Amino acid sequence: MRNLVSIDDLSKQEILDLIEHAHKLEDEPTTDLLKNTVVAHLFFEPSTRTRLSFETATLRLGGSVIGFSDAGVSSTSKGETLEDTIRVIAQYADAIVIRHPKEGTAERAAKVSTVPIINAGDGANEHPSQTLLDLFSIQKTQGKIDGLHIGLAGDLKYGRTVHSLVKALQHFDVSFSCFAPDELTMPEEYRQYMPAMREFTHLSENIDTLDILYMTRIQVERFPTPADYNKITGSTVLRKEDLSGCKETFKVLHPLPRVDEITLDVDTHQAAYYFQQAKNGVFMRQAILAMLLKETEQ
Ligand code: NCD
Repeated sequence: MRNLVSIDDLSKQEILDLIEHAHKLEDEPTTDLLKNTVVAHLFFEPSTRTRLSFETATLRLGGSVIGFSDAGVSSTSKGETLEDTIRVIAQYADAIVIRHPKEGTAERAAKVSTVPIINAGDGANEHPSQTLLDLFSIQKTQGKIDGLHIGLAGDLKYGRTVHSLVKALQHFDVSFSCFAPDELTMPEEYRQYMPAMREFTHLSENIDTLDILYMTRIQVERFPTPADYNKITGSTVLRKEDLSGCKETFKVLHPLPRVDEITLDVDTHQAAYYFQQAKNGVFMRQAILAMLLKETEQ
């Protein structure tokens, strides 16, 4: 049985296979591959895109969805352990997609589950399905991943999307520029995956040479105190005027939600790709479900 707890659960070849499958699903999104299959979506933390795109992906594959999007309505609020919740839901569903504010929760779920676990974000740790749709988006817009110069901007400390992304990009020949305030730079444990990396504080310092700029939201919910957040809010902002010297093929990605880190006038620029990126998420999540559930059957 396969899980997708960390992006490390996949080999480079499997990542490339998922991208290829997502491409195919874009041409023909509706199948009955998951007919008579139930996928549970357990969201202990707010979500719009991840939950709804996983649910859409399940429905497009002919499966059915169960779950909750508010931890307060599940029995964990009565004191049930996560392990017991997972043991029971694994009796109802053929796969479990889980998001939780605490790092390591998807791993804990995988230890007791009898069905595949998909990590839809565990605290500041990882968000592997987002990374796969990000790679799909990079491949689609640039026609390749190798050889690219990728910028990561915003909250590189608490942002789980960039943590999974740099781990996945270790398989490819890319260089990085990081743009973050001193308080939110990339944690040491992820730097080993980024041998070619330069650091800047402001986007204007090195945006012109980028192929991709991956913007992120400052993760207010992970700051120790509101004062810590207030100190750095608004520190890394992309404005339309920043894009004037960028490459023709340059694209801006963002996992969304956006708060104020990309000004609205960027949305109509040809480099803005974040809404298409969200659309790509459904095809990639279809590919992920197909891979995990098909392999389980064998
Ligand atoms: C991201 C997340 O939840 O980590 N959102 C998403 O899944 N698209 C990014 C964020 O919340 O800032």
